[in-house]
Amino acid sequence: MVAVSKPRGTRDFTPEEMERRRAVEKKMREIFESYGYREIATPTMEHMELFTMKSGEGVIEETYSFHDKSGRMLALRPELTAPTMRFYMEKMRMSPKPLKVYYFGNCFRYDRPQKGRYREFWQMGCELIGTDKPEAIAELIATAYHVLEGTGLKNVKLRVGDLELLRSFIKKLGVENSEIMRLIDKSDYDGVSELIGEKEGAEEFMEFLNCRELDSLKKFFGGEAGRIESVLEWLSSFGVPYTLDTSIARGLDYYRGIVFEIDAPSLGAEKQLCGGGEYTLLPLLGGDETATAGFALGFDRIVLALEKEGYEFPLPEELVYIHPIGDEMRKEAVLLATELRMKGLKVEMDLMRRSMQKSLQYADRIRAKKAVIMGPDEWEKGMVVVKDMKTGEQKEVRKEEIGGYL
Ligand code: HAM
Repeated sequence: MVAVSKPRGTRDFTPEEMERRRAVEKKMREIFESYGYREIATPTMEHMELFTMKSGEGVIEETYSFHDKSGRMLALRPELTAPTMRFYMEKMRMSPKPLKVYYFGNCFRYDRPQKGRYREFWQMGCELIGTDKPEAIAELIATAYHVLEGTGLKNVKLRVGDLELLRSFIKKLGVENSEIMRLIDKSDYDGVSELIGEKEGAEEFMEFLNCRELDSLKKFFGGEAGRIESVLEWLSSFGVPYTLDTSIARGLDYYRGIVFEIDAPSLGAEKQLCGGGEYTLLPLLGGDETATAGFALGFDRIVLALEKEGYEFPLPEELVYIHPIGDEMRKEAVLLATELRMKGLKVEMDLMRRSMQKSLQYADRIRAKKAVIMGPDEWEKGMVVVKDMKTGEQKEVRKEEIGGYL
C-alpha cells in the first residue's frame, strides 16, 4: 500500500495504455477534421454558474465545485458544451457560419464509480453552430457514427429521437416535465406509468414511447412526423444505419428538437458511447437564438469497447537500442543516438552501464526492433554491429550506412 492513493473514480494510465489511447484519439481527430471540424480548448474549471444555468439538477449534484481563495464558486467541468457556448459568446460570435468546432478533454462528475463510469473521464465532442437544416443535423449525427466506425468498432447502435414530439405529448398529458423526463431517461417505464396513471391519453403516450418505426410514428401526428422525418431521410443519404427511438430524453436540460444516442451493446450497463442533439444555451448567456447542436463521445468507453471486441491496437513505432561496449564508446553512442533521432528514429541507449547480456535483455523487454552494438575494435574500422532483436541475426555494417539497416 502506498501512503497516498489516487482519488476514487480516477485512473493512472501506463505507457502501454497511453499508446493505445493516443492511437484511438488520433483516428477520431482525423474523422472530425475530415468533416471540417477544427479543435478548440477551454479551461478545466469554470464558474459554477455556467453549469447550474440550464444543465439540470443532476448536473449540480454531480459537479465538483469549490470556492477559490477569493471566494468565487468554481467547478471542474462536467462536460464541454456549456464552456464552448461561453467561449463562443466571448470570442467566436463573428466567425463565419456554420461554425464547426471539436474538443478533447477531461471532465469530472461525482458519479458512483463502476466499470465505464468514472469521476474523471475524457470526452471528444463537437458543436455545430449556426444551422438547423435537416441535412446539417444529419451530417452531425453521421459524424458521430463515422468517428466511432473509424476507431475500428464493429458493433454500435444509433438511436434517433425528437424531443419536440416527446414534449408535445407530455404537455397534453399535463404532468410535470422534469420528473417524467428523468424517468424516461432512466428507461423506468413502470415509474412513467405510475406517474401518468389513468390520465387521458396515458395509454397512447406509452404506445408513443415504444414506437420504433417512422410509419407508426406518423400515425400519432396525422400522417406527418415533421423534422425528424427529413433528418432520417438525410441520414440514409449519409449511409448511416439508425433506429428511431421516441423515448430518448437525454439527461441534460438544454436539449431541444432532434436528439440521438449511440451504444456499444457489448459494454452492458454503461454502454452509452455517445449522446447529443440540438439544444438551446446561447440566449441564457445573453446571445440570440442561433441554432446549436452537438454531441460528445465517451472516450474511455470507446477504448473499453474496442478491447471487448478484441480489436488489435496498432503497435507503437519501432525503437532502436544502442549498446556501447566499454566506457570509451559512450560518447560515440550519444553522438550516434542524436544523429539517428535527427533522422526521425526512436532511439534509446544504455544509460545504466550494463553488461552486454543485461543490456540486450532490457532492449528485448522494451520491445526494441534493432540493437546497435558499438565495440571499440569495430568502431576503429568504421563498423558497428546491428542485431535484429526478433530473429537474433547480427550483421556488421559500415557506420555511414547504418540508416539502411534500422
Ligand atoms: P452526456 O451524455 O452527458 O452528454 O455525455 C456524453 C458521453 O460521455 C456519454 O455518452 C458517455 O459515453 C460519456 N460519459 C458521461 N459520463 C461518464 C462517466 N462518468 N464516465 C465515463 N464516461 C462518461 C454531454 O456531456 C453533452 N455535453 C453532449 C453534447 C454536446 N450535447 C451537445 N453537444
